Amino acid sequence: MAKAEVDLSKVPEGKNITIKWRGKPIFIRHRTADEIAEANSVKLTDLKDPQSDAERARKPEWLIMIGVCTHLGCVPIGEAGDFGGWYCPCHGSHYDISGRIRKGPAPLNLEVPQYEFEGDTLI
Ligand code: FES
Repeated sequence: MAKAEVDLSKVPEGKNITIKWRGKPIFIRHRTADEIAEANSVKLTDLKDPQSDAERARKPEWLIMIGVCTHLGCVPIGEAGDFGGWYCPCHGSHYDISGRIRKGPAPLNLEVPQYEFEGDTLI
């Protein structure tokens, strides 16, 4: 399997970066404490694809996802939508600050790829 190494130390808190991995965009967000608290405050019963934030982010400050909408594969826009996360303009899917689908036609949360940390800020 193709691997990529990313140094997260240059991503400021509250910012997103996008890298390419195996031809797909990978979204990385350095989440703020408020965003982490918001992600954890959501009830699983309110989710179409119930996953806790802890299942999605190995370290809560780093959210790492494949940037491909689970509806028909468009690339969602960051810092957009009704839930403070990502918005897919193709058919209007809204993802929250944990990348979970909250509104619109997408059936599943944004996918979390396999990753490991080496130290605090290298994946
Ligand atoms: Fe994203 Fe349809 S491809 S909403």
